[in-house]
Amino acid sequence: MERLDKRLSATGKWSRKEARELIRAGRVSVGGVPCRAPEAKVDEAAPVTVDGTPIGAHGPVYLMLHKPAGVVSSTDQPGERTVLELLGEEYQNIGLFPAGRLDKDTEGLLLLTNDGPLAHRLLSPKSHVDKVYYVEVDGELDGDDVEAVRAGLTLGDGTVCLPGELELLSGHSAHITLREGKYHQVKRMLASRGKPVTYLKRVRFGPLILDEGLPKGAWRPLNERELESIFCE
Ligand code: URA
Repeated sequence: MERLDKRLSATGKWSRKEARELIRAGRVSVGGVPCRAPEAKVDEAAPVTVDGTPIGAHGPVYLMLHKPAGVVSSTDQPGERTVLELLGEEYQNIGLFPAGRLDKDTEGLLLLTNDGPLAHRLLSPKSHVDKVYYVEVDGELDGDDVEAVRAGLTLGDGTVCLPGELELLSGHSAHITLREGKYHQVKRMLASRGKPVTYLKRVRFGPLILDEGLPKGAWRPLNERELESIFCE
């Protein structure tokens, strides 16, 4: 048994407050009978409708998170704070997961969704979706590093990286654009140049640009323009 307002908000379509308003307005029925009590306990199998339309399991949800350092990108890792824990209660049980991972100490743009096919498409190696990172290193970046990244680096263990782009911003900072997402890729690439990464932040993921108005740890649903961009790529 579950509270009726929680059942509605678990779909991701309404916040808990909106759900309560809909229920109090008499627009929600359980098993065909209107119910005006947000706290009413309903059976998980009971059909719930809003204005006569079944609420369904949950709709697709697309959130942009400004990941702070110190949280892990997995949905469940004992002993660690996960990105899901940064979200509100209504987003806890609707199957959200991060589309791609950032290291615990990496900050920046993370797309959280429950749309498996979309995430799969964006992450597929065949899609070659651009990821852009702001990076700071210990050491001086130079034209040789730019050339090496452009040519496609081979890491110490023989892993071959696809050609990327390194745009120098200062002696020790740059934007690096990659079209793949190998394990610790930026750190390993720059370490192979003898310039260990001291700070890493993803600022772009495909057509999505990190909303710098989002403080670290904050999130928001993608807006219409962003949704269009990820579906029309
Ligand atoms: N490359 C890394 O090394 N770490 C990240 O978190 C993302 C890309």
